[in-house]
Amino acid sequence: MTSERFFGLVAAAGAGERMGQAKPKQYLEVLGRPMLYHSVSALLADARIDTVFVVLAPTDDEFKRYAWGEFGERVAPLYCGGATRHDSVLNGLVAASSAIEPDDWILVHDAARPCLAPRELRRLLDTLAADEVGGILAVPVADTLKRADFAGRIQATEPREQLWQAQTPQMFRHGLLLEALGGTAKLSDEAGAVEALGLKPKLVQGSAANLKVTYAEDLQLAQSILRSREART
Ligand code: CTP
Ligand code: MG
Repeated sequence: MTSERFFGLVAAAGAGERMGQAKPKQYLEVLGRPMLYHSVSALLADARIDTVFVVLAPTDDEFKRYAWGEFGERVAPLYCGGATRHDSVLNGLVAASSAIEPDDWILVHDAARPCLAPRELRRLLDTLAADEVGGILAVPVADTLKRADFAGRIQATEPREQLWQAQTPQMFRHGLLLEALGGTAKLSDEAGAVEALGLKPKLVQGSAANLKVTYAEDLQLAQSILRSREART
């Protein structure tokens, strides 16, 4: 396990149903560009990332409407998205196999996280480049957690010590990830699949700014975060 090569794989084949817009949320405008542009360019901002594969729905007709030329060959669309995020990521890993060695690193990232900052990406790469397993960006849970009963009343207050919220990118070696996701269990993230192999992915401190855009109000928040960052540079 000596590879120094890093690839991105952006899951962009969802329908964005909870957003309730005509087009999938990854194509909604954020600062005048599709959300997907920001998620892809956040990964490519680190020169260590070789290529970003973008997993699209087979019926996607939006991707090619945007000019990706500024990234040259570093952006590669794969029209192999599946019915679930798990299927999309697995299909993408298989489709990218010819360009990737089993011990190359893959950073799986949600198209719906356009606010990934260079600092957190750098921390992830720096922390894990020599790691045996890999890991994910995550943030410690800050709020007090309540467990609800079926009437919507508080049944219990849950201890939040040692609880983290998982984000993306999630960084693992290509061969390990293929093995993990190829297993039968459909888990909601890559780390969960790797855990199911009995391994312990590392938690790398992320930032709350790397939110996942799910509802309409998240889109405004993402835009504010990116705008304030743009103003500072
Ligand atoms: N995703 C994917 N393939 C799917 C489902 C989701 O590539 N079959 C991607 C989405 O495009 C998104 C990421 O996985 O970038 C996280 O998923 P989520 O936020 O749930 O997006 P959607 O599934 O599109 O939204 P919703 O669940 O509201 O329909
Ligand atoms: Mg979804």
